[in-house]
Amino acid sequence: MRLSYRVGAAALIIFAIVLIKRHLDLIQDDAPVLQSGWNFGSFTGDSSLSGSSPNNAPSDSSKPKSSKPKLTGDSNSNGYANGNQKDDALASRPIYETTPIIVPNDRIIVMAKLASEDTNWVASDLNEWRNIIYTVDDESASHHTPKNKGRESLAYLQYIVDHYHDLPSTIIFLHSHKDGWPGAWHTDTMAYSNVDSVRALQTDFVQRNGYANLRCQQTPGCPEEIRPFRDPPQPGKTTERVYAQAWVELFNNTDVPEVVAVACCSQFAVSKEQVLQRPLEDYQRYYDWVLNNRLSDDLTAHVMEYSWHIIFGQEAVYCPDAYQCYQDVYGNPYFW
Ligand SMILES: *[C@@H]1O[C@H](CO)[C@@H](O)[C@H](O)[C@H]1NC(C)=O
Repeated sequence: MRLSYRVGAAALIIFAIVLIKRHLDLIQDDAPVLQSGWNFGSFTGDSSLSGSSPNNAPSDSSKPKSSKPKLTGDSNSNGYANGNQKDDALASRPIYETTPIIVPNDRIIVMAKLASEDTNWVASDLNEWRNIIYTVDDESASHHTPKNKGRESLAYLQYIVDHYHDLPSTIIFLHSHKDGWPGAWHTDTMAYSNVDSVRALQTDFVQRNGYANLRCQQTPGCPEEIRPFRDPPQPGKTTERVYAQAWVELFNNTDVPEVVAVACCSQFAVSKEQVLQRPLEDYQRYYDWVLNNRLSDDLTAHVMEYSWHIIFGQEAVYCPDAYQCYQDVYGNPYFW
């Protein structure tokens, strides 16, 4: 007897669970239909509203009024039965599964290369990133700059100017050398590897901070690489002697900082949001400056090297503690 009670109770519970599950499934299945119906309805309303600004409240309320009767008028002219058919069609519409839209490869590596350099490693070793590689000294290359000027900087700006309106979330500006010394000496991993550093890059930090220098070692560049007003001028410090004038031309203001500092070498990542903090015209101005100024290739590149962090929203002196930098940028304070 007791056993049969237990079996009975268990059967009842299972039956109840099955019922509840079916009920929940039904609710879920209904949801998309209801939602799409609602979207359909609100779409017409939204489209008529979006054209006018919130200030025109009176005309707003009149617009939907004038458009709605039109719609019902149409269906009236088609007859009442037609309207019912429409409802039936909505109700019997097949139920589609909905999937959130995930943009694949929403991140890119932008690179400058000489025609003689082999950059196949980018696609093969960093294949989770899209890439666009500009050849700076071959105008027949599929991606190229009009001139070999300012080393990597013209390519970086070419990308922003050409893709300002379709940027991915994260953009890395990277050099063409894969690893090894001396070619990649300034890359912050044991093997000086751009592959290792990109693989470890904390893209969420890039999103949070807007800008991440891929180098955390503070020299060269920190703590005060450029003093535009150093008096007397220091031999060898040619970049800082042209920096103030370049600043005025680049940024169209005279607020030249006393000190500019950032860990060297023009490899960094930025977020789309950060790039869009400036209008396209700003990037076009930088581009024209790199292309057309009368400074040498080297000096142009150096000025840009000590301007990128400012362009992308950082203070003129950007020298975070190296351990903190490794933690933020690579997820490990002892990354190097
Ligand atoms: C430069 O700044 C001045 C004054 O702030 C402004 O009138 C002018 O339009 C700017 N020029 C460019 C090219 O942005």
